[in-house]
Amino acid sequence: MKRYLVTGAAGFIGANFLKYLLKKYEEDIYVVVLDKLTYAGNLGTIKDEIADSRVRFVRGDIRNAELVANIFAETDIDYVVNFAAESHVDRSIANPQLFLETNILGTQNMLDCARKAWYRGKDSEGKPLYAEGKKFLQVSTDEVYG
Ligand SMILES: NC(=O)c1ccc[n+]([C@@H]2O[C@H](COP(=O)([O-])OP(=O)(O)OC[C@H]3O[C@@H](n4cnc5c(N)ncnc54)[C@H](O)[C@@H]3O)[C@@H](O)[C@H]2O)c1
Repeated sequence: MKRYLVTGAAGFIGANFLKYLLKKYEEDIYVVVLDKLTYAGNLGTIKDEIADSRVRFVRGDIRNAELVANIFAETDIDYVVNFAAESHVDRSIANPQLFLETNILGTQNMLDCARKAWYRGKDSEGKPLYAEGKKFLQVSTDEVYG
C-alpha cells in the first residue's frame, strides 16, 4: 500500500487530485490530507473523500513543523504532494508577506520534515542515506519557484 500526504486538497487542483487518486488506486492507498482551510479551501468539495476510510483529514498549516513531523511519525508517508499555497495573485499585492510565509517557508517546512522522516543515517563515506522510493512532488508556479 502507498501512503500519500496531500496538502491543500480542499483547493481547486488538490481536490481533483484526491478524487483521481482514490478512484485510480482503489484499496491500495492511504491518504493524509493536510489543509488549513483558508478562504480558498472548501471542505464540501471533498466531503465524500474525507469520509472514506482510506483518508484522514487534518486541519492545519504546512508551516507548523511539529504538526507535519507528527504526521510523518504516525504514518510512513511514501509520497508528498504539496498543493497548499496562497495562489490568488490579486491577494499577493494586498498581502505579500502571507504569500512568502506560506509558499516559501511552508514549502521549506514540508521539505525539511520529509527529509528528516526519510533520513536513514550515513553510508560508509559519510554521505546521507534516505529511504528508497520516497518522493516529494511540489506543485507550484513562479510564486514558489521565484
Ligand atoms: N489553479 C491553477 O490554474 C494553477 C495553475 C498553475 C499552478 N497552480 C499552483 O498549484 C497550486 C495549487 O493551486 P490551486 O488552484 O489548487 O490553489 P487553491 O487556492 O484553490 O487551493 C489552495 C489550498 O491550500 C490551502 N492552504 C493555503 N494555505 C495553507 C497553509 N498554510 N497550510 C495548509 N493549507 C493551506 C487552502 O485552504 C486551499 O485548500 C498553487 O501553488 C498554485 O499556484 C495553480
